[in-house]
Amino acid sequence: MKECNVYVTRMLPEPAMELLRQNYEVEINPDDRVLTEKELIEKVKGRDAVLCLLTDTINEKVLEAAGPTCKIFANYAVGYNNIDIKAATKRGTIVTNTPGVLTNTTADLAWSLLFAVARRIVESDKYTREGKYKGWAPMLLLGRDITGKTLGVIGTGRVGASFARKSKGFEMKLLYNDIKRNKEFEEETGATYVDKETLLRKSDFVSIHVPLLPTTKHMIGKNEFKLMKKSAVLINTSRGPVIEEKALVRALKEGEIWGAGLDVYENEPALESGLTELDNVVIVPHIGSATVETRTSMALMAAKNIKAVFKGETPLQCINREVLRKIS
Ligand code: DGY
Repeated sequence: MKECNVYVTRMLPEPAMELLRQNYEVEINPDDRVLTEKELIEKVKGRDAVLCLLTDTINEKVLEAAGPTCKIFANYAVGYNNIDIKAATKRGTIVTNTPGVLTNTTADLAWSLLFAVARRIVESDKYTREGKYKGWAPMLLLGRDITGKTLGVIGTGRVGASFARKSKGFEMKLLYNDIKRNKEFEEETGATYVDKETLLRKSDFVSIHVPLLPTTKHMIGKNEFKLMKKSAVLINTSRGPVIEEKALVRALKEGEIWGAGLDVYENEPALESGLTELDNVVIVPHIGSATVETRTSMALMAAKNIKAVFKGETPLQCINREVLRKIS
């Protein structure tokens, strides 16, 4: 019997599972689905560590069930809005995430969505498959130019900065907004800092890269859509609730903006009524970090965070460092 016991809430890439199995007792949820709160509470009992996902709500009740033996909840995501960090910190439970390894992958997806919306790729594919293509036509599926346009980036953390950097090849004018100016980012990219309203008014493409916080919830809603150009495209690969989805559906329907590309949703996996009926939105199922390479790196990072904690070492990606200070 191995000394430490780890629960994994859903099957993850094998190299990480193997790393854990070699060293610890490991139980993995055998079903490819999210556990209910009741199941989660049952499963975390008596564990020394839990490897959880952004779809698991780690609240006071789950932390309580895990109890004092559980040293760490290692989240398999960079975002950690699914975990009650305050409650974990109060209990002395370490919380880690997986930043860095998914930066470029998520930024790439934001670009994929931008291209897909601007050049109407999904509509065009459907049109061609349905046998509607009868020959070149001057007004067929006209999109929007990308090169030389103004790109507005909201949030210049790792993913936002990577996304912005990649615009260089398209000779875009770069505007950005964040809670504070980021001089290093400005020097590197030539971006201009503007307030959110100016960014929305002036940008042809707006891409959101902020964490979900009480201050960012619904940061784009009815009033913001009114400021945007009718030709603008909105991209969101961060967290769904930063956009008021009802207002977005209305803005897309009424032509207040030209299009949107979404990876995340306000009440994921549910979609706002009317969203799927619109042709000017490209919707994908939260696949920002979904590549073979990145998901493997994320799983390994989460497993290594658990290993570090069991060895009494400092995990590299700790969210609540004050817990570490208390332990050491
Ligand atoms: C994250 O890690 O927070 C991403 O949303 C996963 O795709």
